[in-house]
Amino acid sequence: MFGGKYNNAKVLVTGNTGFKGSWLCLWLQQLGAEVVGLADAIPTSPALYNILKLEDTIKQHWVDVRNAEAVLDAVRAEAPDIIFHMAARSVVRHGFTDPLGTLAVNAMGTANVLDAVRQIGNPCSVVVVTSDKCYDNKEWPWGYRETDALGGKDIYSASKASAEHIAHAYVSSFFGGDDAIRVVTARSGNVIGGGDWSDHRIIPDFIRAIEAGKKMDLRHPEATRPWQFVLEPVSAYLRLGQLLLTSAKIHGEAYNFGPGYANSITVATLLETLNERMTDRPLDDVVIQSEDKDHREAGLLKLTWDKAHAQLQWAPVLSYTETMDLTADWYRAYLAGNDMLALTQQQIEGYFNKAINQHLTWAS
Ligand SMILES: NC(=O)c1ccc[n+]([C@@H]2O[C@H](COP(=O)([O-])OP(=O)(O)OC[C@H]3O[C@@H](n4cnc5c(N)ncnc54)[C@H](O)[C@@H]3O)[C@@H](O)[C@H]2O)c1
Repeated sequence: MFGGKYNNAKVLVTGNTGFKGSWLCLWLQQLGAEVVGLADAIPTSPALYNILKLEDTIKQHWVDVRNAEAVLDAVRAEAPDIIFHMAARSVVRHGFTDPLGTLAVNAMGTANVLDAVRQIGNPCSVVVVTSDKCYDNKEWPWGYRETDALGGKDIYSASKASAEHIAHAYVSSFFGGDDAIRVVTARSGNVIGGGDWSDHRIIPDFIRAIEAGKKMDLRHPEATRPWQFVLEPVSAYLRLGQLLLTSAKIHGEAYNFGPGYANSITVATLLETLNERMTDRPLDDVVIQSEDKDHREAGLLKLTWDKAHAQLQWAPVLSYTETMDLTADWYRAYLAGNDMLALTQQQIEGYFNKAINQHLTWAS
């Protein structure tokens, strides 16, 4: 898997205590990597990081990415072969309540990580995780390509567009000549799957509501998003890392990662599907539709991942039904008190087996 590149590799994951970071760390451990984490805190309670017992199995640096010196010290101490930079204020609404914090963490935090790599100068690969929201969203019905203009009408989106600009400016200013330091950026869409408890995210809000026997507030039911199971972008990041560790061919590139067309659906349809799998009540018994005039969100957002398919031989593995089954299975097992480390490992193995059956290069 991934050409065996992660076996014994030293991997630093920033934002490893979060939702995607925890899945990535567990998969990296299965691949034989020496995983080190860097984060300011554990962002939620409960947290997948604790459920997977990652605090017992990986070395952790408790560092705020806004602190350039502390980031430099951690990167120098670890001398990683590769960094997955995922630390971020990841919730769009937090950009409205703390714009300066969001910009500082997402934009300057990215600069601090890249500058640490620059100052140390060791060979190192960096996968910078941004977002589908980095594009200038024109609400058009076709997908954004990597050559489309970056933008962002809200602070979170602008912070991710800034992270993109910063990463590509570091490449052209500092990492262009000698290719020992290799950087790519990864833009993916809304992620779903077990183990997410972030605020203001649709599935965690739904799970919290049914767990508490309350109704959830449903805002923006008509918004369409490219929903992806968490292992789809995580497999993409690992594929990018594999290729960076192999050669400088993709150095300086940006890639989109999205699901198939069937996964580009509205928030309301997503909740209908999840509700069918998690409760025996109609959706109206579980949600209240409410207006959200204060926080304008994009209505339609789609990505084209043709470039990732052509150059990385990456493609999404799961259908919409499989995406929703895996998500519902995870939370049902959690609510039933099952062994979630074992189940999460099984979901990674099941995903990998499907990728083999689909002859995806990274799985061979
Ligand atoms: N979840 C999604 O739907 C989605 C979609 C597109 C892009 N992304 C991006 O993927 C990455 C991971 O997302 P996630 O859903 O796992 O987010 P998350 O909120 O679950 O985790 C964020 C992580 O960043 C860390 N962090 C936050 N502020 C920090 C700071 N100042 N210093 C150090 N660490 C800090 C948190 O402690 C946590 O480990 C983020 O960059 C996010 O913007 C997420």
